[in-house]
Amino acid sequence: MKSILATAAAFLAATVNAAHHEVAVGKDGLTYTPEDLVATVGDTITYHFYAKNHSVTQSSFQEPCKPLEGGVFSGFVPVPEAGVESATTFTITVNDTKPIWIYCGQTAGDHCQSGMVSAINAPDKDGARLSDFKALATKASRPTTVPADGLPVGGLRLTKVKVGVGKDLMFEPSDIAGALPGEVVRFGFNPANHSVVQAPFQEPCKFLEDGFSSGFVPTDKTPSGVNFDIVVKDTKPIWFYCAQTGGGNNVHCNKGMVGSINAPTPESITDFQDRAADAGLSTIPDHAPKGGVLSIDGYTIPYVGGNVLDIKNLDPSMLSQVPPPGEKPSPYIIGMAGGAPPASYFWAPTITETAVAALQFLNYVDNILATILVEGHVRLTPGAASATGNSSTTGGSWAGAYPESITAMFGSVAAQTVIHRRTSTDCLQHYSHSSMDTCSYTLVKEDEGVTPFLAQALKVYLLSVGATIDAMAKIADTDAWLIPALATQMGAKTRALALINLMQGHNPSAAPREVQIPMSLVYSYIKDHYILACDSAVEEVAHEWAGNTTPRIEFYDLVKTKTAETGKERTTHLKVKGEGVKYGGDNYLAWMGPWGGVQYSAIEEDGSVEVPYDLYGHVWAVVTKGKGEDTKLKTMEELAYAGPEMVWISQP
Ligand SMILES: *[C@@H]1O[C@H](CO)[C@@H](O)[C@H](O)[C@H]1NC(C)=O
Ligand SMILES: *[C@@H]1O[C@H](CO)[C@@H](O)[C@H](O)[C@H]1NC(C)=O
Ligand SMILES: *[C@@H]1O[C@H](CO)[C@@H](O)[C@H](O)[C@H]1NC(C)=O
Ligand SMILES: *[C@@H]1O[C@H](CO)[C@@H](O)[C@H](O)[C@H]1NC(C)=O
Repeated sequence: MKSILATAAAFLAATVNAAHHEVAVGKDGLTYTPEDLVATVGDTITYHFYAKNHSVTQSSFQEPCKPLEGGVFSGFVPVPEAGVESATTFTITVNDTKPIWIYCGQTAGDHCQSGMVSAINAPDKDGARLSDFKALATKASRPTTVPADGLPVGGLRLTKVKVGVGKDLMFEPSDIAGALPGEVVRFGFNPANHSVVQAPFQEPCKFLEDGFSSGFVPTDKTPSGVNFDIVVKDTKPIWFYCAQTGGGNNVHCNKGMVGSINAPTPESITDFQDRAADAGLSTIPDHAPKGGVLSIDGYTIPYVGGNVLDIKNLDPSMLSQVPPPGEKPSPYIIGMAGGAPPASYFWAPTITETAVAALQFLNYVDNILATILVEGHVRLTPGAASATGNSSTTGGSWAGAYPESITAMFGSVAAQTVIHRRTSTDCLQHYSHSSMDTCSYTLVKEDEGVTPFLAQALKVYLLSVGATIDAMAKIADTDAWLIPALATQMGAKTRALALINLMQGHNPSAAPREVQIPMSLVYSYIKDHYILACDSAVEEVAHEWAGNTTPRIEFYDLVKTKTAETGKERTTHLKVKGEGVKYGGDNYLAWMGPWGGVQYSAIEEDGSVEVPYDLYGHVWAVVTKGKGEDTKLKTMEELAYAGPEMVWISQP
């Protein structure tokens, strides 16, 4: 246990401590400020450019004004006005603690030989080695060189453009010079309701076929957190405008809300602006985004369902509430999940009652799963405010418990659950059957901590996976068209289980350990452990289908024994108790094993049971009256009278 926690802590420390450094280039003369930087692995360094026309170029220590093969290069960043910071930055990530030597490649004025060099992680803290490097640079042969293609490499060259500045209808900067192939131009949206659309030079307010369009972004927040990123492909000029017409009398393009990237001459810019002022009604493609990546607070929005982004109910956590079953998912959820549900599931002309019942039941299980995951997502996300379920959540209380990447992945998993729930609700709707409303659930509370929460999430996932396999087994003969849709969910769910294993600091559980669990037993477990209150109609449907619940059981007095072959300790015996559980005679504990198999162990007079040797992982078991002749789950389901419950058995 200790080693698991230590590993998790080390993992967190490594990622959480990554720092961000800022370096000014040419702000204080021919120099980098600071010029001697200490950075640790994972840190990022962003270079900001001032004055003249500088670069960030990596060299070896021995040859200061010559590019190092495979080294980083920002490309040149010309700054038209001295003292003004360029909108273009260059960001690199530090991958190791080896020294990185940097110089400016500008030959006009011999910047490198004039001492415009810097060091990252120079070996000597007092700067001696940087001064050695500087001394070598002064003597370096001319001309200074940079990578032959002149293109940025090894870092992100990013130009930020503000869309709408105060009440002004403008882009800032509006004319970006010197943009290089590979550079990202990021349009950041401000109030009120603007767009960025690419135009041909000849027709300033008309959409260029195959060009980019962000769609409209109505916002009253500055900054809104909405960005539209395009990647510059070549050095050809790019012209753009805002397509807002505001009903025709407030045409942003006519009023000068236009811009360019790599315009050939100042005259061409004036020409474009003049023609924009007189242009007819602006046009915009019906669908957005096109030709670029739209994101909100770092989440990609693959489509906005038209050309207007709906950010009215934008929450920092994006997915803060479980949408009602059957509701069309928002673009944010689709973005987080990485895809929308399909338009058709290749429906058969009719559906059997068994399949309807199975879908309603899976809907019932997915409701609780989605509630748990969305709740977890809210608690793990910094700044999240909304509450879900009945756990008096303030939101964001577990922020920082995991690295951002893990938290984001957890968000995707939550969103995927919402999307996958659509398999049951879409299919039920298609055949005019009702879907199941969300109930209120007993969730692990915030102050109980993230560890029991993950344990709960894991259990519900396993139950959901178990029920889905069972549903597939039960409808395979009659409603085969449903199998691919249900099997697709399984992929996402088992990946999510691996993520939870990772968050718990465990190895992913050995395959195949996601076992089939009869839906009736899943119902028993969920109803008994997690349902606080449900609409009576929902309970009726679930009960009608799954039958009476079986009482809860508990495992205790786990006996661990060293395995002869491996010397590893594992649980070989345990005791079982619970309301109505009888010992001896024909009372058995039935273990649900991989591949839909069952193994029976007799319950001794003292309640003790032997754990089958070849069972391990998260193992589910149930108490039965009698022992099946076969090892089929269906027989076991009929014999079950108490449980199920789960126990972790380590590998022999
Ligand atoms: C910036 O410097 C580079 C390298 O000397 C040069 O090729 C480029 O034309 C310069 N750009 C401007 C706008 O002066
Ligand atoms: C760090 O590694 C990435 C990926 O290989 C690379 O693109 C980048 O240039 C490296 N950073 C530095 C400072 O070399
Ligand atoms: C934003 O502008 C578009 C285009 O004019 C319009 O359809 C949409 O309703 C506007 N949204 C808001 C919230 O103003
Ligand atoms: C929360 O629980 C209370 C009872 O404890 C119940 O009355 C209320 O409806 C529940 N709220 C939600 C949102 O589930």
